[in-house]
Formats: sequence, C-alpha cells, structure tokens
Amino acid sequence: MNKRIPEQVIEDINFQSDIVEVISEYVGLQRKGKNYLGLCPFHEEKTPSFTVTPAKQMFYCFGCNVGGNLFSFLMKQENWTFPETIEYLAHKYGIELPEQELSRTQTAKQKQRRRWQQIYEWTADYYNRVLMDLPEGEPGRKYFIQRGISEETIKSFRLGFAPDRWDSLLLALQKQGVGFTELAAAGLALEKEVKSPGSGRIGYYDRFRNRIIFSILNQKHQPIAFGGRVLDDSLPKYLNSPESAYYSKGNHLYGINKAYPGIREKGFALLVEGYLDVLSLQQAGYPNTVASLGTALTTEQAKLLRRYTQRVVLCYDSDAAGTKATLRAGEILAEAGLRVEIPRLTGANDPDEFLRISGQESFHKALQAATTYIEFKYQTLLKELSIRTIPEKAELLARISPDIHRIQSPAEREGYERFLSLELGLSLEAVQAELKNAARNKVKYQPEDKYLPLKQDNYVKDRDNKINNPDHNSEMVPAVPLGIYRAERMLLRLILDNLAFLAVVEEQLGGDFWQIQEYQQIFRYLKESNLNKIGIIENNFDEKVQSKLANLLVEELDLSQPERILEDCIRVIRSSQEEESMLELQTRMTSLEKSGDLMGAMELLREMGERLKRGEM
Ligand code: CTP
Ligand code: MN
Repeated sequence: MNKRIPEQVIEDINFQSDIVEVISEYVGLQRKGKNYLGLCPFHEEKTPSFTVTPAKQMFYCFGCNVGGNLFSFLMKQENWTFPETIEYLAHKYGIELPEQELSRTQTAKQKQRRRWQQIYEWTADYYNRVLMDLPEGEPGRKYFIQRGISEETIKSFRLGFAPDRWDSLLLALQKQGVGFTELAAAGLALEKEVKSPGSGRIGYYDRFRNRIIFSILNQKHQPIAFGGRVLDDSLPKYLNSPESAYYSKGNHLYGINKAYPGIREKGFALLVEGYLDVLSLQQAGYPNTVASLGTALTTEQAKLLRRYTQRVVLCYDSDAAGTKATLRAGEILAEAGLRVEIPRLTGANDPDEFLRISGQESFHKALQAATTYIEFKYQTLLKELSIRTIPEKAELLARISPDIHRIQSPAEREGYERFLSLELGLSLEAVQAELKNAARNKVKYQPEDKYLPLKQDNYVKDRDNKINNPDHNSEMVPAVPLGIYRAERMLLRLILDNLAFLAVVEEQLGGDFWQIQEYQQIFRYLKESNLNKIGIIENNFDEKVQSKLANLLVEELDLSQPERILEDCIRVIRSSQEEESMLELQTRMTSLEKSGDLMGAMELLREMGERLKRGEM
C-alpha cells in the first residue's frame, strides 16, 4: 500500500531532472543538434533510431514507436512502478520523499538489502581505516607504496587491508551490532565446526585475511562486493566475496563508479583485466578505465559500456591467455555494437606494467596507434596460421569472416576486404566470395576441422596474378560519395518538410536516382502514399530505413532558403551523374586486375584513396 505521492514532489523532480542525463545512463546518446540519438533499449537494433528531445523532455523511437517522458522511460526500462520511479529520481536529485508504506514482503526485502548495504559500508570503512590509520595496516601501506598507488586513489577507490588475523572483521563489525551469522550470510565470514569434543557448535572466521582489499563500488559509490589480493606470490592470488541476490560479477565493471563520467568525456572506455590496472591507469590520467573483474567479458558488461560510449579500447594482458581473452571480448563488444580498438603494449605484460616501464607518453602513443579489432585478429591469426598455400589463406578468411560480416557500413567492410585482398595476394572477388561463403556455411573454425577445397578457390589468382576463373559474380556494394550523401540528405529533408518539393525533384532527377537505398525507399513511399504529414509514417520500413529517417528528422539543418538549397542539391546530384563514379572506378579496377594489369589496378586504387581523403566518398 502506497500513500499518494504529493504533487509537489513530482513537480520538483520534473524541475530538477534532466531526461538526457538519466537516459544516457542506459543508452549511449549522441548529440545531433538539439536532439540526441542512440540505440533503442526497447528493441534490438544495430542502427540508432531512438531519439531524445531535451526541449520537450521526451523520448521517441522511430523503430518501435515507443515514446514518452522520463517517468515512462524508467518504468519501462527498469520495470518499476510509478512510486519506485519517483523514489529513484528523488534519491538521485536529493529530493525528500515522505515516508511510505510498503507491502510486507517488499519491506522485508528492502530491509535485508539495506542491512547488507550497511554491512558492506562498515566493512569497506573498516578495511580502509586499517589500511590508512591502524598499525596492523602497515603491510598494506607498504604494498601500495611499492605499486605506486597514491593516498588519494586509496581514498577514492575505498581500498583497504585485512589484517593477518582470523577475527578482525568479525570483532570490528560486532561492535556495530552485526552478528557472526549475519556476517557469514553476507559473504564476509566463513563457518567452521568447532572441534571441541561433543560440542557440535559452529564457529566463524574472516573470509579475508592478510590481503589487500578492493571494494567493488556501484555507480552510487556504494560497495557491493569485495576482492582480496595476497601481498606476495602465494595462491590463491585473489579471493572474492561470493555472488548474491544483490551482486553478480558479470553485471559489473570495476571502476565504473569513477569511470562513467570519464568515459563520456573522453569518448571511449579503456577496458582492462585487473583491479590494479584500473588504479594505475585512472591515476595516470585515464579516468575512463574499467576492468571486467577477472571473468570472461559478459554481454551485460558490454551493454553497460554501451550506455556511455560507442568505442572501447581493449588493454588486456599481453600473454597468450590475454590475447585469447582479447579476441573473445572484442567479439562480444562488437556484437553489442561497440567499436573496438587494441593498442600494442610491447615489453610489458599488462597496462600497469607498461606505464611503469615505458611511461605515460609511450602509453598515450600506443593508444593513438591502436589497431582495429579486425586488424588485431588478422595479426593474431598470422602468428598462428601459415598463409603460404591457398587453403591456408582460405582458412584465415573463414575465421575472420564473422567479424567482417558484423560491420554495418558497406564502405568500411569493403575497406577490410581490400586490405585482406592486398595482404593475401588474392583478388577482391576471391576474398569477398570466400568471406561470403564462410558466412553462409557458418563455418565455425574448429582446429581439428580438415579444410575442404571450396568452389571459390577457382577465383584465386595464380602466380602471375591472373585470375583463373573469369565468371565472377561478386556483389559490390557501392559507397556513396560524401557530396552526394549530403545532397541527398538535404533533398529528402526538404521534401519531408514540404511535400510540394517532391514533384520538383522527380521532374528534375527522375524517380530512382537516390544512391542511398533507404532514401530511395522513403522517397518511393512518400510518392505512393498521398501523405501530407510525415508524422503518419508507421511500421512500414525495416530498421535501417527507420533509423535513417529518424536521423534525418532530428538533424538540425539550415533550411532557411529552401528553394536555393533545393537547386544546389539537384545540381550536385546531376553533375555527379556525369563524373566517373566510385562504383565505375571499382568496376574498371576489377577488369584491370583480371587482365593482369596489376600496376594499373593499383593506380586506380590510389586514386580512390585520394578521393576518400578529399572526402568525396
Ligand atoms: N582474478 C580473480 N581471481 C583470481 C585471479 C584473478 O578474481 N584468482 C581477477 C581479479 O579481478 C584481477 C584480474 O582477474 O584483478 C586480473 O588478474 P591478474 O592479472 O592476475 O591480477 P592483477 O589485478 O593485474 O594483479 P597484478 O598486477 O598484481 O598481477
Ligand atoms: Mn594483471
């Protein structure tokens, strides 16, 4: 039973809250003029069609047509009731709520959660106090000094030390009124049978002894779990508090409490393996660093990162295990729609060590020179596979195929295909066919699999760089030159704003000049249905089209002189139709390749590169 929430509270929340701030804790939002755009949390999509309009304090998804205000967003996202939503927002913005009555089970659950929270608070404080002030904290202090961790870091990360005793936390928390059983239930003490004859009694002892303590903090800076590291090389190196109803390590990232504003600010997240990597990187001016808590990265963790950014730099350990983990994590991140980059930290096993040995400058440089995930995977595969024979090359392509297919942008995908074509000395068609085939067959590489020659081997060039099989049928995806892209975007927006322009455009350019396929679809739709307002467009399009539409509608374009702009756009598109297009260049290059004129093909490739640089693509 809930008491009514006073109007005043709702008003206060409305006044103080910011829909962009709240939603961007869930969705990676990108500013587009007066609006924001991101991947919709309410349906699966890979291209953003979720918009937030701060001026109206509203959100709307063009993909699934869900929209509303801040309250409805949270209720839907968190599955909260209205009062729960109010409670969250009131807490967030420091607005006082009158006490409420809850159901009995709600009360019990809430009570336990609060109690555990309190116990964790006391525990974090206790271990931190030992480390900072008490004599038995000496080994911990020495350890952190030796690892170059500052006092400020110790404070802000709520680091601690567990003394070398069996009952230090038991006794410290007993003073706060926490019973031994309760402490064991919260995962901080362990049970043992008391061996005195016939007693049958149970005794308790501290879980963490003689260990450095890492408090795992949530976004509110509250401890939700602990990790303890030994001071030397003994095993186990780490002990962690167990998972519970309130904590599952696959859902958290160490350091996120401090990192999330940093990630937004820097525009990317640095993902590392260890607690100590987080400490030293954050200390060295990378407040955007988080660690995956020693488990294989989970989809939840990837999604957590995606709330704050679209780019992740992966800095795992550089040993064999680290490389394997990097490949796996990269895949999961890419799957969640994140762009992944990997720096080479040579001469050190992890980023912490790299910073110590090579310094901040080198680290910065390494980040700047980071390769994309696909390049990294390619380099790794090269170390593992030989690529002397054609079947070996095909195997490499099969293994990298899923990563190439995940790329949304056709231009980017083709860039990689060309890269592979040059690297492997195969024709572009052969590479594309091989990749496609692997994807179709879902060839999942298994080391024991024997390679079977595929039909596509026929496409492969022989030693003289001649292609043996002439009847290729590769599907080339045309890349749209930037100038055209801009013109088409402007045109369509003008039409959306004023449907009278539709006829003008059609008269001057015809009905299917659009190079952006999605625009072509929208244009056709507008033409066929006699709409006079774009607001009526509903689920008629697939996700990509909807996303493009959303993008277009929220983008702020200067449309003050529509007639002139219209004329300009039409001119741009006309003149491009005359010039040799990128697509034609590509086709010509392919035929040069086929005729064996590799020099000529390279020349064209260079020209395409030049155009790219000039931004014509
Ligand atoms: N980890 C763990 N349990 C272990 C070993 C590791 O939970 N037995 C987790 C910890 O979160 C640890 C991370 O995996 O931080 C990475 O492990 P490792 O590289 O061995 O430790 P670091 O924290 O990097 O410590 P150091 O720099 O001292 O090697
Ligand atoms: Mn490490």
